Amino acid sequence: MIHRNYYLIILNVLIWNFYTLKCDFEAEEGSKCHDSRGKNGTCVNACHCLSVVDDIRRRDYPSICSFQGHTPIVCCTDCKKVRHIKNVIIDKQGGIHFRTGKKAYDGCLEHLANLPDEGCGTTTGLVKHWHEEKQCYKYSRLGVLAANVGRDAERGQFPHMALLGYGPELSTAEWLCGGSLISNKFVLTAGHCISSTIFGKVRYVAMGILKRTDPPEHWHQYKVKNIIPHPEYHPPSKYHDIALLETSTRVTFNQHVFPACLNIDDFFYGSVTATGWGAMGHRKQLADTLQIVTLQSFYDEVCLVHYPPHRNIATGFNSTIQLCYGDERGSKDTCEGDSGGPLQAKPGISTCLHTVIGVTSYGRNCGYKGQPGIYTRVSFYVPWIESIVWP
Ligand SMILES: *[C@@H]1O[C@H](CO)[C@@H](O)[C@H](O)[C@H]1NC(C)=O
Ligand SMILES: *[C@@H]1O[C@H](CO)[C@@H](O)[C@H](O)[C@H]1NC(C)=O
Repeated sequence: MIHRNYYLIILNVLIWNFYTLKCDFEAEEGSKCHDSRGKNGTCVNACHCLSVVDDIRRRDYPSICSFQGHTPIVCCTDCKKVRHIKNVIIDKQGGIHFRTGKKAYDGCLEHLANLPDEGCGTTTGLVKHWHEEKQCYKYSRLGVLAANVGRDAERGQFPHMALLGYGPELSTAEWLCGGSLISNKFVLTAGHCISSTIFGKVRYVAMGILKRTDPPEHWHQYKVKNIIPHPEYHPPSKYHDIALLETSTRVTFNQHVFPACLNIDDFFYGSVTATGWGAMGHRKQLADTLQIVTLQSFYDEVCLVHYPPHRNIATGFNSTIQLCYGDERGSKDTCEGDSGGPLQAKPGISTCLHTVIGVTSYGRNCGYKGQPGIYTRVSFYVPWIESIVWP
């Protein structure tokens, strides 16, 4: 992992390249200097100069003013100093991000730095550009383009999408629920997907597929080692309908198999997409090709009318722990077989990664006009997810 410890790398690089660097060993921190291109800068401790990270990535080594012990003081042409460069992660398109200490977010940044695909759009990280007036380098974000979605998904469009298998043998497994890959060992799904009444516990996870009828080379299959339902999930109650599945071996990432991020900040998305290989309507057959539906947020009050207090949902729809999305005009919805799959938004942290905001949980007869479905609200469960996935 190249990006993990920039601080050490920088020290190594600077000391290794000692004799090739343009050095002015007299200049103290704070004094004026020129960088290798003759731009005016200030001598700054390398740990506070963001451009050092960017320059070294481009193999354009910074000019050194002096050393403070082992720490180089470099000629920095940035408009602002940063707190420390050790928290920096650079994504595949050169955008700069800072770790926050929130594990789910930082895990997502690591995925971003290790994407198998570089051509997935513009970076959402900070990008360096010259500030003409101030004569220094500024870091800011570029605009973000949203992706458009169709009806059938394309291969690799939802690389975190998992299909869950039940039954004693892999060869005869029944694939009945969906899930989302969120790290190299964990799949997020619904609590009610941890077992099937007829086929027993969930035993297999398949990824990399677009169609159920895809040939075997597309099926990247893993055994489930651990099934971890949320401790407060007590069926038949519909609350806390969320679970984690740990695979017995590490999941290998490629263009068609890659984790998604989690909606850690409870950011509100008016329009989202749900994906699944579920039924194509009430009592219809399961979809062969992964289906995408675009759904809109419903007001809590409206949702409570659709999902009032009931035997298995004691106080009705609960917006603290659940989300309510549907298609107000059409009849798009998630159906049987879509359970456990993601409700996702893009862009979240990046245009390259999906952000999972919900887990498909519960709906009455799907596909009826104006009828929303209930999704487990992922942001509420991030502390629980972090405690298991990033302990
Ligand atoms: C650097 O600053 C000096 C004075 O502060 C100015 O005369 C000179 O033109 C500047 N050089 C560059 C390359 O901006
Ligand atoms: C909704 O769920 C939260 C978390 O479990 C709980 O504290 C709250 O009391 C619930 N609200 C209602 C109206 O039941």
